[in-house]
Amino acid sequence: MEQFRLNNKISLITGGSRGIGFGIASALAAAGSDIVLVARTEAQLEHAKEKLSRSKHKIWTYPYDMNNVDGIHDIYAGILADTGGIDVLVNNAGGTRRGPAESITAEDWNFVINLNLSAVFALCQAFGKERIKNGKKGKIINIASLMSDTVREDNAPYAASKGGIRQLTKALAVDWAKYDINVNAIGPGFIRTELTRPLWEDEMFDSWLKRKTPQGRWGNPSDIGSAAVFLASPASDYITGQILYVDGGLLSTFGPVY
Ligand SMILES: NC(=O)c1ccc[n+]([C@@H]2O[C@H](COP(=O)([O-])OP(=O)(O)OC[C@H]3O[C@@H](n4cnc5c(N)ncnc54)[C@H](OP(=O)(O)O)[C@@H]3O)[C@@H](O)[C@H]2O)c1
Repeated sequence: MEQFRLNNKISLITGGSRGIGFGIASALAAAGSDIVLVARTEAQLEHAKEKLSRSKHKIWTYPYDMNNVDGIHDIYAGILADTGGIDVLVNNAGGTRRGPAESITAEDWNFVINLNLSAVFALCQAFGKERIKNGKKGKIINIASLMSDTVREDNAPYAASKGGIRQLTKALAVDWAKYDINVNAIGPGFIRTELTRPLWEDEMFDSWLKRKTPQGRWGNPSDIGSAAVFLASPASDYITGQILYVDGGLLSTFGPVY
């Protein structure tokens, strides 16, 4: 089990204050990692910090809007100065603006692509530069989606951004393998969080999802957390450029015929 431990590591999770990001932060802390959380809402960051502090690890929080892509290298420099170095980067912050493709505004398009793709590249680049310069190993975990591989209606910017994450993950894995920086992604199925509240509160959707998913249930943030521990730990040292779908089998099936 030593291969799964994260003692003496520091993990940065964007969007780590709630939902999937908090599930990942909790699991990485339980595996021994100190934690850095980045999100916009200070009160939620503080709440998350308080809960994680029970694990007795060091926790740092940074209120920051990842849509401000131009400032990401600066905020990362500040995080490095405070922590001394990040070993595991989890790009989880994300969101969507939905609508039929013919009516999506340029503002909505840019918002989603900036947050879900451009910000991820900027933070990966800041992380990679420091690791390479200092000859240090690193692990990157990008949060993809079922929509990295398939699509739902009225969500073109999100599908484009998450499809981009799939290819970005492979591209960085190939460029940085020689520096011992592993780059992988997790593709969550339908996970019960604030983002999906309108779906799990909708009885028709809820019963469709349970019928469609071979394991017959919604995912929990902790389901993603366990996968993240594997991809952050030495147990996955020979795995890079992969998308690990954590979806109860959903992507593998057409669903029941009757
Ligand atoms: N839930 C699912 O079923 C599902 C499925 C596939 C993929 N995903 C992906 O998983 C990730 C997390 O989703 P979730 O369901 O956990 O969402 P969530 O419950 O809405 O949580 C999102 C987290 O990201 C932070 N965040 C949002 N916008 C941000 C910004 N501009 N700058 C910095 N932080 C920001 C939020 O905090 P603040 O609002 O305070 O900033 C929060 O901590 C996203 O990338 C999403 O696309 C989710």
